[in-house]
Amino acid sequence: MRVNLGQNAQLAPPLRTKNMEGAVDIPARVNGSNDSLPKPHIKPDEYAAMHKRSLEQSDEFWRETANKMLAWDVPFKTVQHGSFDEGNIAYFLEGHLNASYNAVDRWAIRDPNQIAIIWEADEPGEDTKITYGELLRRVCQVAGTLRSLGVKKGDLVIIYLPMIPEAAIAMLACARIGAVHSVVFAGFSADSLRDRVQDSSARVVITSDEGKRGGRTIAAKSIVDAALKECPGVEHVLVVKRTGAEDVPWVSGRDMWLEEKMKEQRAYIPPVLMSSEDPLFVLYTSGSTGRPKGIVHTTAGYILCAALTVKDVFDVHAGDKFGCMADIGWITGHTYIVYGPLVLGTTTLIFESTPMYPNPSRYWDVVDKHGLTQFYTAPTSIRLLRRMGTEHVASYKLDTLRVLGTVGEPINPEAWQWYNDNVGRGQCAIVDTYWMTEGGAHMITSLPGAIRAKPGSATVPFWGIEPVILDPHTGKELHDADAEGALVIRKPWPSVARTIMHDQARFMDTYMRAYPGYFFTGDSAARDKDGYIWIKGRVDDVINVSGHRLSTAEIESALGGHPGVAEAAVVGAPDEVTGQSITAFLALKPDYVYESGEALVKELTIQVRRAIGPFATPKRIICVEDLPKTRSGKIVRRVLRKIVCNEADQLGDLSSVSDPSIVDHLKEKYAEATK
Ligand code: PRX
Repeated sequence: MRVNLGQNAQLAPPLRTKNMEGAVDIPARVNGSNDSLPKPHIKPDEYAAMHKRSLEQSDEFWRETANKMLAWDVPFKTVQHGSFDEGNIAYFLEGHLNASYNAVDRWAIRDPNQIAIIWEADEPGEDTKITYGELLRRVCQVAGTLRSLGVKKGDLVIIYLPMIPEAAIAMLACARIGAVHSVVFAGFSADSLRDRVQDSSARVVITSDEGKRGGRTIAAKSIVDAALKECPGVEHVLVVKRTGAEDVPWVSGRDMWLEEKMKEQRAYIPPVLMSSEDPLFVLYTSGSTGRPKGIVHTTAGYILCAALTVKDVFDVHAGDKFGCMADIGWITGHTYIVYGPLVLGTTTLIFESTPMYPNPSRYWDVVDKHGLTQFYTAPTSIRLLRRMGTEHVASYKLDTLRVLGTVGEPINPEAWQWYNDNVGRGQCAIVDTYWMTEGGAHMITSLPGAIRAKPGSATVPFWGIEPVILDPHTGKELHDADAEGALVIRKPWPSVARTIMHDQARFMDTYMRAYPGYFFTGDSAARDKDGYIWIKGRVDDVINVSGHRLSTAEIESALGGHPGVAEAAVVGAPDEVTGQSITAFLALKPDYVYESGEALVKELTIQVRRAIGPFATPKRIICVEDLPKTRSGKIVRRVLRKIVCNEADQLGDLSSVSDPSIVDHLKEKYAEATK
């Protein structure tokens, strides 16, 4: 399958920017025509040459950019080393810097009163602001606390926190002393948290008494306690007071209130000198197997691309207020709530609530109240709000907005249009940003003042990214206009993940060896005649529900933990609001006795919620006589996928299925379940 790299590199259709079918004009607030608004960082005629340079003179390009955007304690000499083949990518060698210094100190020194974080609490009206000066003090005090507990450079700290400023502060505090943070999304169950703590061998966990979301209370500390029952290695739990709940469960000697410990600490401690390639964080993500992968990102390359994309993709200028509505527990929150905006020295929003609380106007209320200039969310929220009706957005001004972003899944043209008309009022750029946990920052996206959007397309590669479309079977590069196939990236870029924690072999197998010599994204994509990229979705066993990435194997293994389940197969069904939804087909053990179908489904649902978390709850659980299998017993998921996609008439060749008569039974059961 080996392909001669670069041989046909020039054959991909050149990017066209004029007379493109379906492309929308660059809108008024970002095209530079309004003198009271900033001129876009990247102009229409600049993209092609800059992108070319970022590939052909990549060392010069990244040298200049890294020197311009980051503060170095020790300058780097070598820009890039290593290859996908070897799996030893490294950037900015010999260089030393500190991510928390880059994100906090330099702006606190410039202007301690500049707002770093706007915190919009769950209850409207409870918002607060944190200046860079105060952020620096709090980061130092948490860093000092961690150090007082013996946390050293290279140690891993687990953060299990709701959307409160302390989540960002804890991440930056780890970075300050060289500890590696691993944020676990606070929607994960105790069992999932336990697995991640065990895999990471962390000694310290940071959490809160409770969390608040959409008017409901989440018992964060109790979840942590349940998880840690099987984690004897954890010596200290630092607890943030979020709600001030009484009777918070407490393990004396292990648990301590973070605020109390912070009071003992100096308000300034110097940042630790870190190599460019020292790990900054580990973030677990789902893959094709039941076992989550601890994706490792390193320091300089990651923070550089985080800040650069905030600047160029969101066209951020001085005085802007940047609003990313993701959760800090996912990569979008890491890059676009914490590191990107802060390393750029802008103001970032931390939003604790949901788009529906206390009503479907909440997002727009937040935009107007804080004067947000950029707004970044997932297509699933846009679809949800579109469904609620335009009356919830119509009365808001929304005139501070210039750039609207989407992430996590392809955006359907209807949702795009709704976003454009009702939120952007036809005057804002919409950037459909394609990337992934392993990519660290935007990889394919439009640029507000330079690239005309086509609704539904992620459009063009960002600096340093050379997307290649391969025939998924032969691995040959496809260069024709309208080519569709496996999406890979030809060359390394600074923010690409460096390894999977404790599992370099899996890292190589998953990303570097699927199509040797390239980085495999896990997605398929098409390129149109204008050179624009259209993402088609995952080609592995990963499904995407409301922009949350879930492994079918993980859900299947959760269901398999139920005593009645003989076998489970999970597939993603198209869903109008969430993009995909989880459908589970189950074969029960022949002798398993249960009260009622309803009671069983309830038990199975609880099983998944307990093993993974509520966000992984299957929309449909369908008990069937048997699953479609090959003669050797392998489940043929393709058949199930076709059924849930209402493509049962296109099942194709069923010769691999040992008992093709099962297909009619499956179709019937599915029709019954969706009646
Ligand atoms: O399938 C792609 C989809 O989300 C996957 C990455 O998921 P995760 O690592 O959780 O990161 C999500 C936030 C970056 C990708 O492999 N995806 C992400 N952005 C887009 C997208 N699919 C289409 N268009 C996008 N803009």
